[in-house]
Amino acid sequence: MPKSLKNVLCIVGARPNYMKMAPIHAALAASGRFHPALIHTGQHYDTEMNDAFFRELCMPAPDVNLEVGSGSHAVQTAEVMRRFEPIVDQTANPVVLVVGDVNSTLACALVAVKKGVPVLHVEAGLRSGDRTMPEEINRILTDQMSDMLFTTERAALDNLTGEGIAATRVHFVGNVMIDSLRANLPWAVPPTQTLAAHGFAPPPAFAVATLHRPANVDEPDILRRLLESLCIIGQTLPVVLPLHPRTKGRIQAAGFDHFLDGRTILPLGPASYLTMLGLMAQARLVLTDSGGIQEETTALGVPCLTLRDNTERPITISEGTNTLVGRDSDAILAAARTIMETGGKRGRVPEFWDGHAAGRIVTAMIQAL
Ligand code: UD1
Repeated sequence: MPKSLKNVLCIVGARPNYMKMAPIHAALAASGRFHPALIHTGQHYDTEMNDAFFRELCMPAPDVNLEVGSGSHAVQTAEVMRRFEPIVDQTANPVVLVVGDVNSTLACALVAVKKGVPVLHVEAGLRSGDRTMPEEINRILTDQMSDMLFTTERAALDNLTGEGIAATRVHFVGNVMIDSLRANLPWAVPPTQTLAAHGFAPPPAFAVATLHRPANVDEPDILRRLLESLCIIGQTLPVVLPLHPRTKGRIQAAGFDHFLDGRTILPLGPASYLTMLGLMAQARLVLTDSGGIQEETTALGVPCLTLRDNTERPITISEGTNTLVGRDSDAILAAARTIMETGGKRGRVPEFWDGHAAGRIVTAMIQAL
């Protein structure tokens, strides 16, 4: 790694990190002012959760893979820290750039801050107010440790100043995930192709659902009620369900495979980025417990029902197409019916979700570092 430039250690660990980091890494490399190095912690390791995304996002192979794999939160976080520390030690002029709220984000920020290495956090200041979510703890702690905090929506600044973080450290730059969405939408895989490849006759209209949060899939009773709701919606509007490995495992363990009947619910493996973009862009309705999908559906103008009681991304509700429906079957079905009858919320695309967020980050970095 060059000694004259700042070496920006760009951390990715899990699936939602890749589409955020791709435009930042590219903008850093193009700036000529920084040398970006891609560090993969290995939190996600399945080909379908991982390699396919790098290929589609045209990201270079990671410079380093820490290969931590799965484990309890403590083990995973500790393993990332243990393996990341020597990388920081070996790097001249290091800066650590983390995105989002996964365990790898927290672990690498913690290593850096203890060494006096600047920490930059992209997607700072989002708060669900729900401390039972592991991501909420990761967000709060990462923001406390960060020197530059890049936000996707203006309300994030209030969350941060309320936690004692100086406003001068906060930069409203917009949403890098939408940089990736805009750049890649022209290459999205048509849903007809995706469904045909899985042996399903493409229906004239469909919904898309994703489920992976422990709160939704780990408790069999909750999982069963959610699958039942999807089946009922699927009788009118077939539901395409790309399955996270955790969800697939929980469905099998609970004996719920009969819900994946190929008629009301059309199950897929984890969808690649371009596959997912194609599905979301053409969906009549999206049901999800993901954070990123709430934002992507808002950018696409597609109605989204979020199967959680809270969201750290309130702008997707106030300005976008998102509605919180929780886990209650009646509430989910009523909201889905309204969307099928009326077309649902149209929303508008929030400020700075314009495809240029990564450029703003690099500009702010040039000024500050
Ligand atoms: C992580 C993030 C979550 C993000 C999600 C996207 C944290 C705390 N959570 O959750 O915010 O929305 O990624 O997917 O960091 N597994 C595989 N193959 C893989 C990865 C995981 O089979 O490549 C299975 C393993 O059984 C593992 C489980 O999925 O134990 C959970 O993986 P983990 O990385 O711990 O968390 P996610 O639930 O994926």
